Amino acid sequence: MAFIAPSMLSADFLNLSRDIEMVNNSEADWFHLDIMDGRFVPNISYGLPVVAAMNREAKKTLDVHLMIEEPGKYAEDFQKAGAEYLSVHIEACPHLHRNIQQIKGLGMKAGVAVNPHTNVHQLFDVVKDIDLVCLMSVNPGFGGQKFIQNTIEKVKQLKVERERQGANFLIEIDGGVTLDNAAEIIAAGADVLVAGSTVFKSDNPAQTIAALKAK
Ligand code: DX5
Ligand code: ZN
Repeated sequence: MAFIAPSMLSADFLNLSRDIEMVNNSEADWFHLDIMDGRFVPNISYGLPVVAAMNREAKKTLDVHLMIEEPGKYAEDFQKAGAEYLSVHIEACPHLHRNIQQIKGLGMKAGVAVNPHTNVHQLFDVVKDIDLVCLMSVNPGFGGQKFIQNTIEKVKQLKVERERQGANFLIEIDGGVTLDNAAEIIAAGADVLVAGSTVFKSDNPAQTIAALKAK
């Protein structure tokens, strides 16, 4: 059984309040919020005022995934907006260790996200400092893409390294999670499953969350 974090990128923005209530009343554990700047990724999603508004209604942990360049410039703003976990991309952070310290210094849990092409070995010198690794199982930028199977191998490598170093971070899988592949991903060692389109494009989102939770 893993934590389930519905990605609000696939929610109905005209009915955000309704969709947040659905997640509040469901078996979901976190809200996953995808922030895109049109530079680090080829898409623009939503920003600080929307996160702050969601935080007023959301009753569960806000897991904020920054797909932006220079995330350090905005870490404090996201903390004020309600982020509990804040993840930055290793590919956007030449001084990753500094970003991690900044996030923790602001009282948030620190996450590092890695693109599909990035080897998890690049994280090994910071894994004891972080609370979450967000393994991208699609190329970031859009919901509804196909799961990249090689991610399973990366989960296993991270799990072994976590054990070896006695680290505590959670392993989160982001992108292309479905009712068909969730069990395999959890079996590999994932702790948190992000699910956008699988949840929000289904006929009964709360029931789909429960089905993911039961995997
Ligand atoms: C992709 C985002 C994901 C996305 C997942 O850039 O980071 O969180 O919303 O959507 P699905 O579950 O539809 O692949
Ligand atoms: Zn995400």
